[in-house]
Amino acid sequence: MSGQWQEQVSLKPYNTFGIDVKARYFTQAHNDADVRDALAEAARQQVPVLVIGGGSNLLLTTDVQALVLRMASSGLRILADDGERVIVEAEAGEPWHPFVQWSLAQGLAGLENLSLIPGTVGAAPMQNIGAYGVEIKDVFVSLTALDRQTGELCEFDLEQCQFGYRDSLFKRHLGRWLILRVRFALSRVLQAHLDYGPVRQRLSEQGITAPTAQDVSNAICSIRREKLPDPAELGNAGSFFKNPVVPAALAERIRQQHPGLVAYPQADGQVKLAAGWLIEQAGWKGYREGDAGVHRLQALVLVNYGQASGKQLHQLAQKIQADILERFGVELEMEPNLY
Ligand code: EPU
Repeated sequence: MSGQWQEQVSLKPYNTFGIDVKARYFTQAHNDADVRDALAEAARQQVPVLVIGGGSNLLLTTDVQALVLRMASSGLRILADDGERVIVEAEAGEPWHPFVQWSLAQGLAGLENLSLIPGTVGAAPMQNIGAYGVEIKDVFVSLTALDRQTGELCEFDLEQCQFGYRDSLFKRHLGRWLILRVRFALSRVLQAHLDYGPVRQRLSEQGITAPTAQDVSNAICSIRREKLPDPAELGNAGSFFKNPVVPAALAERIRQQHPGLVAYPQADGQVKLAAGWLIEQAGWKGYREGDAGVHRLQALVLVNYGQASGKQLHQLAQKIQADILERFGVELEMEPNLY
């Protein structure tokens, strides 16, 4: 095995659920050459590779019999600036929230609603991260990825990424492309998105009527901190299920029995349901089984109170899925990748 690979490494510090499984081999990539070296060596040794970023969208249910390659590349730069529209580029290993803060410090707007999301820049396009009415597709320009089948560098523009709700080409072909760096179009002029949930109200409570991007970011951070547990304090992977998109007729049937149903009509005529609401109605909010639980403030978030295994969390998730299917006829799809 390569001299730079560690063996039998606990992955507890590398996944936000804090699941204590071991990687057979572990290494970190600080640049493109490290990535290529690690992949070449793994191919020579016929060792499979699991690429991770911040480990914030991952449920590890077993020891990883593979090389875990953690993206740790760094670099944030402005590529173009016409005085209003500014193109920035970030390396895959950059942690997301510090990148957002950096952009705000440059006087750039566009990422403020995506404040405080855990994870890395390279993982963000995988599931088209989104929050409070903005998804990265809204500010995305292009990315550079390594095609693991051909060894070639490829550029993907917005259309080629096939972004959908918590979805992309890369998520549908997990393991095929390794994202190296991402470019975003930001702006010196704020186009505020304040209509989602409590954002506008939070700002007005603070007496802010003409917010800056930094003000919006601060409001988003305070809203998130109230409901979403900090992975440094309580293991979790954010929303554990996607909000299900169902036919309008099914949403209507559910609403007849449950008038409080939280539902958002979609452009295609279907309806997105708030999975957290369904799970809370079913009585799971605050439920705990050993160290695996459903967060007491946000039913869409599963938490590890300390020693839960990935298998226990997965079993709890499956029970919730079965119950929601039985009660409402709705299938919940997991958001994190399962290993
Ligand atoms: N709700 C409940 N009970 C709960 C949780 C939510 O009734 O326990 C209701 C809320 O009252 C609200 C609705 O469900 O009416 C939506 O709740 P919230 O605004 O908290 O958002 P969410 O749908 O639960 C989604 C994203 C989050 C993102 C927020 C804000 C998904 C799967 N999750 O959550 O993203 O931060 O909206 O935009 O789309 C993530 O993906 O990891 C994530 C945290």
